[in-house]
Amino acid sequence: MSNVIVVGTQWGDEGKGKIVDWLSDQADLVVRFQGGHNAGHTLVIDGNVFKLSLLPSGIVRKDTVVLIGNGVVIDPFHLLKEIDELKDKNIPISPANLIISDSAFLILPIHQIVDAAREKQNGSKKIGTTGRGIGPAYEDKIGRRGVRVCDFFDKKEFENKIQNIYDFHNIWLDAIGEKKELKKNMINDLWNIGKVIMSYTKPSWLVINDYNKAGSNILFEGAQGVFLDVDHGTYPYVTSSNTVASQAGIGSGIGPTAMSYTLGITKAYTTRVGSGPFPTEDISNSGVMLGERGHEFGTVTGRQRRCGWFDSILVKQAVAISNIDGIALTKLDVLDGFKEIKICVGYEINSIKYNYLPSSSNQQNKIQPIYEKMKGWKGSVAGVKDMADLPIEAKRYVKRIEKLIECKVILISTSPERSDTILLENPFQYK
Ligand code: GDP
Ligand code: IMO
Ligand code: MG
Repeated sequence: MSNVIVVGTQWGDEGKGKIVDWLSDQADLVVRFQGGHNAGHTLVIDGNVFKLSLLPSGIVRKDTVVLIGNGVVIDPFHLLKEIDELKDKNIPISPANLIISDSAFLILPIHQIVDAAREKQNGSKKIGTTGRGIGPAYEDKIGRRGVRVCDFFDKKEFENKIQNIYDFHNIWLDAIGEKKELKKNMINDLWNIGKVIMSYTKPSWLVINDYNKAGSNILFEGAQGVFLDVDHGTYPYVTSSNTVASQAGIGSGIGPTAMSYTLGITKAYTTRVGSGPFPTEDISNSGVMLGERGHEFGTVTGRQRRCGWFDSILVKQAVAISNIDGIALTKLDVLDGFKEIKICVGYEINSIKYNYLPSSSNQQNKIQPIYEKMKGWKGSVAGVKDMADLPIEAKRYVKRIEKLIECKVILISTSPERSDTILLENPFQYK
């Protein structure tokens, strides 16, 4: 039995989907434990591309069951759309391979309206959210007025709860001239989708408990990345959930001592989509090249991702915060052809040196990165499946990263394809 947690160690889009899909070959159950359809995970299997947002990345494996845990926020309209899109690609989805927590919270259409209105109000200080209603849905959860999947049991109660949420948000929307009516047909549409969703539901903790008792392998799939975490990230430029490894248990219903390995997914450079501090952002030609070669466009919104060099201070912090045992280093092939590769090894703010990311946004914005330069490699590492076939300069780059972040690299990804992966240590066979 092994319980492996996968988390992003930067600002998301590290290639978690590819690695989770690859590892789920060994998993009996793959669990999403936070976030919602703000996530965008791309899998490429024998040239076939799958884009997932809400469904765990293990869904495309024939013998893997997936669970959407209680910590996830679910847009019912989106969920059905994603299920249908996958069915159209001949991926069978039924209650036999998809389980949805009955205590997960719902994203309602009003949450998307509030999300957009807040961004408009924030003007130049906007977060750059995905516009999916994630923040307002989590606010209602913490505010104890949220609607959960299990509320689909009783129509009257369900209607009352939705009315209550609309009343709550309409006070502010009215004040800014954006009041929204609660439409009867929306409630009916939701209720009808609810009936379909109910056929997939179970208590998340109970499912996990049963798999654990049976000695199964469970893979906990994090969305976003450590620096988008609402507590540990670049607040307020974060998402509204906890994205760190500790959330795996809270968002699914299992305690921390049950976990056997935490795998951090780390891009060989850095990207960020949306606003907020980004110390190693490179807006010169090099940054443009990283973006072009890495096809750095958001899966969810299509937005261009901001690009920059590897930031070892950031990743070292993520390793500490999530107690990461090993790193999967992705997109190494994107650095092909760079004569010189820069790594950030420290920060300077007003002539004072820092070896960690200070918490204040104001300070984060003033960071001057301290770089070390490394020689690039000739030729390409794209598609390499064996460490021995990497050029010496690429091996040196990996070694240097390991030293700086104080964590070993146990997996290297060299293309979007599932099989183009170098495995050095198997997280499911650890300890
Ligand atoms: P996630 O959100 O962490 O799952 O990452 P995304 O799927 O949003 O973004 C990662 C992108 O990089 C996707 O388009 C992947 O297909 C692609 N990708 C993953 N690993 C590699 C790799 O090693 N090399 C290259 N070139 N692309 C990769
Ligand atoms: P995956 O799982 C990258 C970012 C948004 C925005 C901030 C808040 O694909 O790595 P939200 O809609 O969550 O309120 O937006 O968080 N963001 C992501 N950036 N990858 C993601 O997910 C993200 N999910 C949210 O761009 O800056
Ligand atoms: Mg993504």
